Amino acid sequence: MERELTLELVRVTEAAALASAHWMGRGRKMAADDAATNAMREMFDSIQVNGTVVIGEGEMDEAPMLYIGEKVGCASTPEVDVAVDPLEGTNILAKGLPNAMSVIAIAERGNLLHAPDMYMDKLAVGPRAAGKICLDDPIEKTLEIVAKANNKRIVDCTVMILDRERHQKLIEAVRGAGARVRLIGDGDVASALATAFDDTGIDICAGIGGAPEGVIAAAALKCLGGEMQARLEPEDDEECERCLSMGITDLNKILTMDDLVKGDDAIFAATGVTDGELLKGVRFRGGHLAETYSLVMRAKSRTMRFINSVHDLLYKPHYSYIETK
Ligand code: FBP
Repeated sequence: MERELTLELVRVTEAAALASAHWMGRGRKMAADDAATNAMREMFDSIQVNGTVVIGEGEMDEAPMLYIGEKVGCASTPEVDVAVDPLEGTNILAKGLPNAMSVIAIAERGNLLHAPDMYMDKLAVGPRAAGKICLDDPIEKTLEIVAKANNKRIVDCTVMILDRERHQKLIEAVRGAGARVRLIGDGDVASALATAFDDTGIDICAGIGGAPEGVIAAAALKCLGGEMQARLEPEDDEECERCLSMGITDLNKILTMDDLVKGDDAIFAATGVTDGELLKGVRFRGGHLAETYSLVMRAKSRTMRFINSVHDLLYKPHYSYIETK
């Protein structure tokens, strides 16, 4: 993949973030998601790629999502797999809480896990603990390994977990082992990313969340030298069937970094919608100006770019669909 694509992808997440940020705190998550999706789709169609969405939050019959199998981009090459979440944290945005982002990952065709929109059990760590973890280890053992790798005592380690009933045992085990827990309402892409940045204080991201978010986070961690292991968690026979139809035959398999994102190249882009751990959210300044904060990374070069852009919305006619009433 050409490195120029990194900047092109930021345009896509910026567009989705700008469109959805207008909906912050308005309590209307579907409207925010639609705005992000439409903006992302529209901007994607000006990008020189031949992309196929291989994992995302929408299925073909759930328009207007960017659905699995949808073609994006306006060129015949390069052929790329795309994993999207135009608005990661729809509830967060609806409530005006931190860490809503627009995110995308791409890799060469065939290199991103092709899976239905379903649950996935995930374990993510930063670069120092990469290569040392196993999803099937008890969390107590993982804590020992990660504490040692991060040169901390277990009591000083923090595990970020989605605040869900299904995680009660995990939360108790982490507390029982003496580590600290940070519960989040939504947004586990941001928590997986946080494990790779020392100043967040997050050592481990664990628990069950969305599969698209898992693949996107794995692409980000590939760019950062971190690690994610995962396992798909089908909830019924229909989901099992759909996995099979997408070529996933062993549902018990631990998905390694290479199963989630094959090869040594992937590009990850994120733009903050609300203020978060790593990125500020969209700021609407005076007049028609808006400011965005993005992170774009490429696994091949391991370059990490934080991009601060100022947009004059008057010169972006495609924002005319921004209606908040
Ligand atoms: P949305 O972007 O669809 O709102 O997802 C937010 C999120 O919290 C993800 O970060 C997470 O992976 C998933 O939802 C968890 O799913 P659930 O809310 O069903 O537990």
